[in-house]
Amino acid sequence: MEIIVCPTPEEVGRRAADSVLAALPDDRDPVLGLATGSSPLGLYRELGRAVSEGRADFSSAYGFALDEYVGLPPGHPQGYHQVLLREVSETVGLPPDRLNVPDGSGRTLAELTAGARAYEERIRTVGGVDVQILGIGANGHLGFNEPGSALTSRTRVKRLAARTRTDNARFFETIEDVPTHCVTQGLGTILDARRLVLVATGSAKAHAIAAAAEGPLTASVPASILQWHADTVLVLDEDAAQLLTNRQYYDDAAEGLG
Ligand code: F6R
Repeated sequence: MEIIVCPTPEEVGRRAADSVLAALPDDRDPVLGLATGSSPLGLYRELGRAVSEGRADFSSAYGFALDEYVGLPPGHPQGYHQVLLREVSETVGLPPDRLNVPDGSGRTLAELTAGARAYEERIRTVGGVDVQILGIGANGHLGFNEPGSALTSRTRVKRLAARTRTDNARFFETIEDVPTHCVTQGLGTILDARRLVLVATGSAKAHAIAAAAEGPLTASVPASILQWHADTVLVLDEDAAQLLTNRQYYDDAAEGLG
């Protein structure tokens, strides 16, 4: 695991964008795994800047969202399909018809489960995710894999934790408007991506980051599966990194071979 601690949130966006761009193939259509939420916004802005400076091109890329709420009406502005159209497709020029989001519109568990299986199949059809962009929940969730999620899980319906609904209430008028369920890529699905780039800023994430990076590998901290992946990059600000105990080593290692 590579851990990069940056002095400002802007630098977090830049370093995370560099880690994403470095892992994209140039001999086939790139496949990006996309997180929503506040954490990756600076990274998406930096990817947009790379496009405008001619350093990147997402016009033939595919995007796959990590998760989607269940039960929001089609076109709801806080549905992750709409969020990613606004925050990624428009910003980096990823064609809307290449943006894939789990289907949260099923009315029964069987319909939602069939949609989740089809989503896994679509990821396989395009050759798998090259870089999965991630945030982390204050409770250690990854995607919407809440504490207790199976480490080998695949895309499926999950109940949102009370903490997640409270944290996400800022995007809705009232807490009651926050959906109770979602369809999320599983931890096993996320592990299949060739590189994982997780962005975290702010002291509210410090406990989750320390537990994920330095605690035991456990379903109680779903983000601890990052330790299992051979190519994980964590890009943090000082506040999110403040509880890491092995910090000096990470800073030394980030200097590279020079
Ligand atoms: C979003 C997602 C979540 C968020 C996490 C952090 O698609 O899957 O895991 O990354 O809840 O959210 P923010 O970045 O808003 O703090």
